[in-house]
Amino acid sequence: MRAAILTTAVLAAAVLGGCRGQTTKETPVTFIRNMHDQPRYDIQSYSDYFDDHRTMRLPVEGVVSREAEIDVRIAKGRTEDDASWVLTIPQEVTDRAGGMGSLLERGKGRYTIFCTPCHDATGSGQGIVAKRAAGIPGAGALAPTSLHLDRIRHMPDGQLYGTITNGIRNMPPYGPQTSVSDRWAIVAYVRALELSQASFAPEQKL
Ligand code: HEC
Repeated sequence: MRAAILTTAVLAAAVLGGCRGQTTKETPVTFIRNMHDQPRYDIQSYSDYFDDHRTMRLPVEGVVSREAEIDVRIAKGRTEDDASWVLTIPQEVTDRAGGMGSLLERGKGRYTIFCTPCHDATGSGQGIVAKRAAGIPGAGALAPTSLHLDRIRHMPDGQLYGTITNGIRNMPPYGPQTSVSDRWAIVAYVRALELSQASFAPEQKL
């Protein structure tokens, strides 16, 4: 009798133990379900409920986030009629930053982080990325522009802001990783850099 109990126990242990350490596609046995399973949609998944079969809803047309800058001059660097770029940094931007001094200070830091790798600290376009790329056949075509070209110096501030926001040709956009005010701060600092390298005729005044 004792032997029989022992054998049963050993067998039971072997059978139960045999299930351990393996993967299974079966749902786990949960006796009290609580709220373990609830119907839900996964992002980007198919929906039978909505007519367009998208799970994710599009924002209502014309909706803006509470944080969004709604002044188009500041948000996009464009004039109110969207006909051209704003020529100078909007006064509100400078005021909000607490004056041109602190705007430039902020711009210097952001420029160093986001632009120096390619355009270098002076803006001549000889950053570490450009230097390394120069050694790779074909990559020379990706050379960053010097920010001291006359064309860039005479570009409206809004266009410079737009270039940072949206990128241009081979330059990636920096809109997604910088805030509106930081991009204007970078514009201010690029202007300061340009002035630092500009050569003026003796009779010319700033
Ligand atoms: C990853 C490298 C890289 C970084 C970082 C970068 N740029 Fe550029 N930038 C480029 C390249 C490459 C070009 C030339 C694009 C072309 O003409 O194809 C360029 C061009 C420009 C131009 C000239 C645009 C024109 O109208 O021709 C400006 C202005 C400029 N960059 C400003 C900036 C500023 C300001 C930052 C920092 C927010 C920045 N860039 C960060 C690579 C970079």
